[in-house]
Amino acid sequence: MILRHARDDSGTPLENTWLHPGDVERGPVITSIADVNSLTPASSSGDSSPDAAHAGRMGGQDRPRVGMVGGGQLARMTAAPAAALGIDLSVLATSADESAAQVARRVVLGRHDDLRALDELATACDVMTFDHEHVPPSMLEQLRARGVHVRPGPEALRHAQDKWHMRQALTTMGAPVPAWARVARSADVALFAEQHGWPVVLKVSRGGYDGRGVWVVEDESRAAVIMQETPLAESAVWLVEEYLPFDIEISAQVARSPHGQAVAYPVVRTVQVEGMCAEVIAPAPGLDPDLAVQATDLALRIARELDVIGMLAVELFVVSGRIVVNELAMRPHNSGHWSIEGAVTSQFENHLRAVLDWPLGDPVAIAPYTVMVNVIGPEGPIPPLHDAFRHVMARDPGLHVHLYGKSIRPRRKLGHVTVVGDNLDELLARAHHGADYLMGVVDE
Ligand SMILES: Nc1ncnc2c1ncn2[C@@H]1O[C@H](COP(=O)(O)OP(=O)(O)OP(=O)(O)O)[C@@H](O)[C@H]1O
Ligand SMILES: [Mg+2]
Repeated sequence: MILRHARDDSGTPLENTWLHPGDVERGPVITSIADVNSLTPASSSGDSSPDAAHAGRMGGQDRPRVGMVGGGQLARMTAAPAAALGIDLSVLATSADESAAQVARRVVLGRHDDLRALDELATACDVMTFDHEHVPPSMLEQLRARGVHVRPGPEALRHAQDKWHMRQALTTMGAPVPAWARVARSADVALFAEQHGWPVVLKVSRGGYDGRGVWVVEDESRAAVIMQETPLAESAVWLVEEYLPFDIEISAQVARSPHGQAVAYPVVRTVQVEGMCAEVIAPAPGLDPDLAVQATDLALRIARELDVIGMLAVELFVVSGRIVVNELAMRPHNSGHWSIEGAVTSQFENHLRAVLDWPLGDPVAIAPYTVMVNVIGPEGPIPPLHDAFRHVMARDPGLHVHLYGKSIRPRRKLGHVTVVGDNLDELLARAHHGADYLMGVVDE
């Protein structure tokens, strides 16, 4: 071990940072710390066992410490209930500018697939969790072998990381899924379509999000072009699914803790535009109550059978009076943002409570309806989003606006708005007006 002194921008030594000898040439594990007051010694992974974490707390650090891998808006929105509950939230972000890095108590700079950066986060927390699913499972296994509480664990997480694992597991447990197959070439896609008809849905098993990595394909030649032009992420495979002409898309969210307590949120309706979530209504209006119960039961069962810890979102299609699972997410999810204002306990708070193995909060809705509409980066240039605040706030004092601190780019989720009340049509109109005004779509 070599003792190294980290310094802040002014050159003042901050605190001792431990490095493996082999790491010296490559520089320190932590490249920057957002809050020097909360700096903890970087250490070899052996120090990140639960006992060491506990000892750290006994030594004066008495606040529970959660580390979140990823610096996106989900980690950012987790920071608010963390503050309310007196939890120290650390995030692993790639830059100090990232959405969550702007607000978290402590920031470790590094990549989610860099074991040294993950180790560094581990030293700063009692429990490690995620704002995305992309950490290599082998790294999570190594962290866990060193005593880090990784929640959800790698066995569960692989089903949210890879749609192929997810489809296999759901098929094995008898959950309703679209007809699907793993394919290697466009001829396989054509063979599948002979049985199930065109169009089909072609998907990369991992690395996609917000509809990137999903194509509705009309014929074999189109499949060939997509498969040729799209580089697959490491260990990703191609999947083909039957195209389901669904009536609506819904999401069933549950939180589950290590000792097995689980709570279920009302089932919501989600509306996707170009594969990206645009609108959420809680609860899903007009949804057959039997289907809502089936979706909730299924989500609770999936959480239990896959041993999910924290929030689980099950995205489903309602098609011809039955439910079919689209995919799983094991973290707070866009379909649960409504719960910040619309439920007794938000998905972000319940995620924290679950990963800390605390009793879960009440997920029930506080009003007949809540509507959430995403603020998505438009194609053309728009003024800074805050410029619209005077208008949207004056026009609708009941509107809740969330911005994620991101620079404006086309098709990027920049924020969302939420309204809570009784009259669904009115809530939809208000939420869309607020979001449209922020996105520069309307100007009155
Ligand atoms: N088999 C299918 N039949 C019809 N539409 C589908 C099918 N699979 C996906 N879609 C449509 O494409 C959207 C995106 O698909 P999917 O959720 O698999 O992709 P994703 O990019 O991983 O999404 P996310 O951003 O939720 O991670 C779905 O919400 C749905 O609207
Ligand atoms: Mg999806």
